[in-house]
Amino acid sequence: MNKMEDMIMNRVCEILGISKPVIQGPMAWITSPELVAAVSNAGGLGVLGTSAGSTEIVTTIDETVEEMRKAIRKTKSLTDKPFGISQ
Ligand SMILES: Cc1cc2nc3c(=O)[nH]c(=O)nc-3n(C[C@H](O)[C@H](O)[C@H](O)COP(=O)(O)O)c2cc1C
Repeated sequence: MNKMEDMIMNRVCEILGISKPVIQGPMAWITSPELVAAVSNAGGLGVLGTSAGSTEIVTTIDETVEEMRKAIRKTKSLTDKPFGISQ
């Protein structure tokens, strides 16, 4: 770790396992696996919002859960860093 990273590292970073104190706000529809993985790969914490990356409107909880499963799997394929999920 270089000196700049030493300076910005804090307890929240340690708890979340990230190297930069940046948490990307989850935004329903707007966040995508690509965005979340990019933030996490850059050292922050990317967070998926509901219907992340989806282009189709779903109407049931089961469909929403299945959509989120797909978004989580896609994000995992793009980063091995920690990321979050919101509702
Ligand atoms: C368009 C939009 C969609 C959002 N969707 C979600 C969401 O799905 N889940 C959530 O927890 N917060 C959602 N938020 C809240 C943001 O994640 C964030 O908490 C809020 O914008 C405040 O950010 P700030 O603390 O940086 O000002 C949304 C905000 C916006 C503007």
